[in-house]
Amino acid sequence: MIDRQHMLDTAVLAAREAGTFLWESVGRVKSIEQKLGEFRNLVSEIDKQSEAMVIAAIRGRYPDHDILAEESGGHGKGSDYRWIIDPLDGTTNFLHGVPIFCVTIGIEERGEMVAGVTYDPNHDELFTAEQGAGAFLNGRRLAVTKAAAMTESLVVTGFPYDLADHPDRPLLHFDHFARAAQGIRRLGSAALDLAYVAAGRFDAYWEVSLSPWDMAAGIVIVKEAGGMVTDFTGGPVNIYRKHVLATNGRIHDQCLAILGQGSVETTG
Ligand code: IPD
Ligand code: CA
Ligand code: CA
Repeated sequence: MIDRQHMLDTAVLAAREAGTFLWESVGRVKSIEQKLGEFRNLVSEIDKQSEAMVIAAIRGRYPDHDILAEESGGHGKGSDYRWIIDPLDGTTNFLHGVPIFCVTIGIEERGEMVAGVTYDPNHDELFTAEQGAGAFLNGRRLAVTKAAAMTESLVVTGFPYDLADHPDRPLLHFDHFARAAQGIRRLGSAALDLAYVAAGRFDAYWEVSLSPWDMAAGIVIVKEAGGMVTDFTGGPVNIYRKHVLATNGRIHDQCLAILGQGSVETTG
């Protein structure tokens, strides 16, 4: 079996290098394209260059491992290990100069997420976790909050690019959570949303229509900080199945109940 700590160290080096590149590239973007003709779903040459840096760093040490990366897709080698990469999570923020974006890398071993790294170059915050060994922010151990009621909880979500037409009605969920929680936020980086739940900055995060690379690292980081991560029915989370609910554990059932609610009655 390959040393997980060594893999994690590799992911940290790659995330730091690419994250620093992102930070230096703010305001210097030359080419912005729309993915699938969708005006909200953007990609720049910086996303692609960051991804090339991360892949080169991993390939240098683990040439036989599988890679799944947002911009270049799957590179299958039939390995037990798959590195799942979002080279720039928070592209819209990045393109607008909003300092909320990161590089995030998850490591899957025989179909199970076992380690993850999320690096925020704007705040020089490095979130790391390895299964069974805890979650850390710049080397300091993380723990989720102890909030037990929605009224004392700060929650966060993100919206899919097709939010108005989405069958899961994310705006309805937003409405329900906004009524129940102490506060609600939308940062624009799923990986940082998850890292912030682990760090005790948020009590809960949910989102529909995610891609595997948005949550691969984050779900390990939340679990290792003592949090709970499931799908919207309370079943095991699957990074290939789009939905995620991540909480401090104590308010998990309350969040599941909110996600199961029908439409809100409106009065005059
Ligand atoms: C997006 C961000 C955003 C989330 C979207 C993601 P990208 O990733 O994580 O917070 O709401 O669903 O697609 O496109 O910036 O890598
Ligand atoms: Ca993303
Ligand atoms: Ca991305």
